[in-house]
Amino acid sequence: MEFKDLLYARKSIRNFTGEPITKAQVDAILEAATRAPNACNFQSWFFYVVADKAMIEKFSPDVYSLDWIKKASVIIVVCADPGRLEERFGQRVGNNFVTQDTAAATTNMLLAAADMGLGGCWIGHFNDDKCRSLLNIPSRLRPVALVPIGHPAEQPPQRPRNPVEKVSLVIGDLR
Ligand SMILES: Cc1cc2nc3c(=O)[nH]c(=O)nc-3n(C[C@H](O)[C@H](O)[C@H](O)COP(=O)(O)O)c2cc1C
Repeated sequence: MEFKDLLYARKSIRNFTGEPITKAQVDAILEAATRAPNACNFQSWFFYVVADKAMIEKFSPDVYSLDWIKKASVIIVVCADPGRLEERFGQRVGNNFVTQDTAAATTNMLLAAADMGLGGCWIGHFNDDKCRSLLNIPSRLRPVALVPIGHPAEQPPQRPRNPVEKVSLVIGDLR
């Protein structure tokens, strides 16, 4: 898909057909995640790919309150691995960097999924402690987002954005 078409094709999908997605599709999504720009190229992230149906069922209501998530073919749990960045830059800057690294990776994943006709949603509002216990995530990692992915069973309208003039300021002359 052309990049501009892809930008507009991606939208949050919160209902899935339940049809499985393939290993090749998951690999492409993870590959896209790891191509994201990231601080010092430390790649301070880790991704759990939950493809086990019984495990997916356990995400709701404890980890995420709404049960549409159970229809995802996979749930990718995006984790920050802040150790090296915090060691180099201190806690505040390291934490800031790792937040941006994982956000860039998550964006790439959702774009890669959309490029293959798949749908997904970025979930930041979830119970990270329950997620940690469910997947036995070690303390050095911090779960920061859930990304349920599957075949879309809905095509919601594009959500509107503020016009760029409202959210930007050009300083200087552009020709
Ligand atoms: C940091 C972040 C956290 C989000 N958390 C949630 C969430 O917890 N639940 C949810 O349904 N959507 C969540 N979203 C998705 C947004 O609601 C969605 O991207 C936004 O409404 C724009 O719609 P669009 O993705 O279809 O363009 C989150 C998105 C971001 C970037």
